[in-house]
Amino acid sequence: MIMTNITLSIDKALGALPNATIGNYAEKASQALQVLHNGTGKGNEFLGWLNLPSDISEQEMTAMEKTAERLRKQCEIIFVIGIGGSYLGAKAIIEALSDSFSWLKHTKDDPIIVFAGQNISEDYLFELQNLLKNKKFGIVCISKSGTTTEPALAFRLLKKQLEDQQGKAAGKDLIVCITDKSRGALRTLATQEGYETYVIADDVGGRFSVLSPVGLLPIAIAGFDIRALIQGAVAMQKACALDVPFEKNIAAQYAAIRNALYQNGKKIEILVNFHPKLHFIAEWWKQLYGESEGKDHKGIFPAAVDFTTDLHSMGQWIQDGERTIFETVISVAEPNNTVIFPKTDDNLDNLNFLAGKRVDTINKMAELGTMIAHIDGGVPNLKIELPKLNEFYLGELIYFFEKACGISGYMLGVNPFDQPGVEDYKNNMFALLEKPGYEEATKAIKKRL
Ligand code: PA5
Repeated sequence: MIMTNITLSIDKALGALPNATIGNYAEKASQALQVLHNGTGKGNEFLGWLNLPSDISEQEMTAMEKTAERLRKQCEIIFVIGIGGSYLGAKAIIEALSDSFSWLKHTKDDPIIVFAGQNISEDYLFELQNLLKNKKFGIVCISKSGTTTEPALAFRLLKKQLEDQQGKAAGKDLIVCITDKSRGALRTLATQEGYETYVIADDVGGRFSVLSPVGLLPIAIAGFDIRALIQGAVAMQKACALDVPFEKNIAAQYAAIRNALYQNGKKIEILVNFHPKLHFIAEWWKQLYGESEGKDHKGIFPAAVDFTTDLHSMGQWIQDGERTIFETVISVAEPNNTVIFPKTDDNLDNLNFLAGKRVDTINKMAELGTMIAHIDGGVPNLKIELPKLNEFYLGELIYFFEKACGISGYMLGVNPFDQPGVEDYKNNMFALLEKPGYEEATKAIKKRL
């Protein structure tokens, strides 16, 4: 089957720009694309993600498929422990591809995937421990640094419970770690315990790692086709490569238009979906763009809404609030299922005018009506269209957003591949918890309390 590419439409946003054109942002995007590919920009030691789809080896794909198959057979619940870039990509793809009610339907042959290690809530962890009593569960622990507090806490608790319930030897076969090849506490622990491991390459940062084992192994465990996902990503790698001119390069176009809008007063971008399955795609995207661009007191604030749900809550603000936003709609051309709206004889709800239509037709008219209303209200509109929700197009979407993010960050003049601001809260938390090595910081922070 020949697959087409996902598309980007920017024409409904041009009206917000001087002379209704993208001006010299096209040229700036092409320059940034070159800097990215030449490896001459900031953070160039983290460009491994650019070639992840085409570079992944058959050996690694087969190994992940085998691990996934083994864990699926052995466990009724599989915990994926990780935070930020070490979980959001897998969560986004799994949610987008799963039956909306899969958590109610799971069977012995189709284990449920639960993500943990993204918070420090005692209630959450207590309830998790309770849920797992007498359950056969496995753990995939993901942390590039191997030292992040939230996943490390969850891992220690769940590992202990697994060993208490299954015994240490059996527990060993139910734990897989994904981390740096040689550094960090998780690597040391995995080596000492003899766990199966996968490596996150040095030159791939957390939020750009979904097309590595970080995303691929959990997605395979959830039962989805990681080869099709990678094929889609490879297709997009080619479609927005260095030699693809701006007019055809949708990653460069997206980077250009969002920078043009930003410089013309549009400081907030909302990512919009009309399918609840895409909620976590937006969570992943928020991290990708927020953590990559929000620095040096610059950067578009990435927000997200689920429509039509949030039209009944945030719709007012979007239509009529401060005019500093633009929206990017992820549209799905064809749903995977069909529901025809029925006719009733009494028409008590006055909905017979919709009888015989697909529910998706109604949803599409909501989408179109919203776009027109928002353009009229001064909200520039970008649209990304996926032909369908499947592994191939989601692979394209992931790579498209990553590529555009690298270009966009360079256009903005920041290093898109670091996250120095994330350390500040950690340093304060460790000082307050009196972590060894933080003695001076502990004294200083206590004076402020
Ligand atoms: O993008 C990033 O680098 C971060 O979001 C990290 O992925 C996140 O902080 C988790 O880090 P680690 O994988 O080292 O536990």
